[in-house]
Amino acid sequence: MSKDCQHILIVDDDPQMRLALMEAIKRLGYSAALSNNGKDALEKLRKFDFSLIITDMKMPDLSGLDLLKEIRKASLKIPVLVITAFPTVENAVDSMKEGAIDYLMKPFSFETVKKTIESLLKKNSQKKQIITKNEDMLKILKIAEDLALSDITVLIYGESGTGKELLARYIHSLSKRSNKQFVAVNCAAIPDNLLESELFGYEKGAFTGAIDRKIGKFEIAHEGTILLDEIAEMSIVLQSKLLRVLQEKEIDRVGGKKPISVDVRVIATTNKDLKKMCLENRFREDLYYRLNVFPIKLPPLRQRQEDILLLAEYFLQIYSNSFTKEVIGFTEEAKKFLMSQPWKGNVRELENVVQRAVFMCKDRFIDLKDFVLDSEPASDRQNGRLKDMEKELILKTLKEVKGNKTKAAKILGISVRTIRNKLNEYGDKTAILLKD
Ligand SMILES: Nc1ncnc2c1ncn2[C@@H]1O[C@H](COP(=O)(O)OP(=O)(O)OP(=O)(O)O)[C@@H](O)[C@H]1O
Ligand SMILES: [Mg+2]
Repeated sequence: MSKDCQHILIVDDDPQMRLALMEAIKRLGYSAALSNNGKDALEKLRKFDFSLIITDMKMPDLSGLDLLKEIRKASLKIPVLVITAFPTVENAVDSMKEGAIDYLMKPFSFETVKKTIESLLKKNSQKKQIITKNEDMLKILKIAEDLALSDITVLIYGESGTGKELLARYIHSLSKRSNKQFVAVNCAAIPDNLLESELFGYEKGAFTGAIDRKIGKFEIAHEGTILLDEIAEMSIVLQSKLLRVLQEKEIDRVGGKKPISVDVRVIATTNKDLKKMCLENRFREDLYYRLNVFPIKLPPLRQRQEDILLLAEYFLQIYSNSFTKEVIGFTEEAKKFLMSQPWKGNVRELENVVQRAVFMCKDRFIDLKDFVLDSEPASDRQNGRLKDMEKELILKTLKEVKGNKTKAAKILGISVRTIRNKLNEYGDKTAILLKD
């Protein structure tokens, strides 16, 4: 992706911070949009495509964490960079659980912003590899390579996080459609009444609120590939409309006068037993046969034990690069731990666990204590680690401003009183070093 297509959304209630970030982003050659609160940001996200979101944590109405949650609910796959001063460092693990991928700690220099943004955008545009040495997976990859040469509809079955979307992208990337769009639509994340216009678009004036024509995902995916994620969640009514699209290769915009022909390769995913849903009249059988032309079942991670450490090492490399850390491996205990987990959330869960461990790790090797599982809150020990980081940050800032608490408070975006309290907590020695 060239720089001019990279559009970055800045969300911060502090106008100075917004402007400073916008300046930095423009200097880097990207374009920026501004939001002063989370609600406005969500609206912008619905309307425009962004390559990255940079958001403050503490904001009135919708906090950065709430914004992350909403983004995740809507299954938007946009990297989110969180700006944090120390009071929110304690939320670091929480927000990473919600999908934040990196941090900018206040105060930060232009160089830091530059390095962080560039590494995130690079990571996001990198062609993602499918890492595996499992026999079944290798066979699937081989089949996928053959399928890429045709336009055959593929239905990918698999538990959450097994790599269904990754496989769909792989097929697209090897196909003759690879220079056109790959568009993913999560049928479960979009309310039923909106899904139709999301897929097929609408004409101006089609209904109240349709102030402009909207192009649907099928049209955007013209000559490319569309991924219909969680197809089982689509209502019966919409299923018939989809069937028509697959048969006639044309779509009707809501409120449109005539059909528009589209040439789209369809890949669908599901974790449900569609055959059974057909018997229960919850899924149209004719659509099922249209989609199930070539079914592929991705095995859960627990059935490919040999991939666990391989993937863990791979994610370790990615995240130590992106956090600019020098974490180079796992201790034996950490490896045993990774091998013993059920990985109900499959590769995605493993990726998240490794990402957070790299974030927590202060050593060259990830140890047991660095792990935070998806299901458990951050432990006291981990909170301790974050407290250390917080202390480091406060003291470093105070040192930079020669102990001036008012200045430090401003830079950190916290009150002078909080700084005083923290210094009291740290004990006399540090407090003496830093006069008012
Ligand atoms: N074999 C793999 N090698 C490298 N990364 C992988 C692999 N499988 C999955 N991932 C990564 O794990 C994450 C989840 O994968 P993906 O989104 O494709 O799963 P999914 O099956 O579509 O999940 P869901 O059902 O929740 O939508 C992604 O970040 C993906 O890049
Ligand atoms: Mg998916």
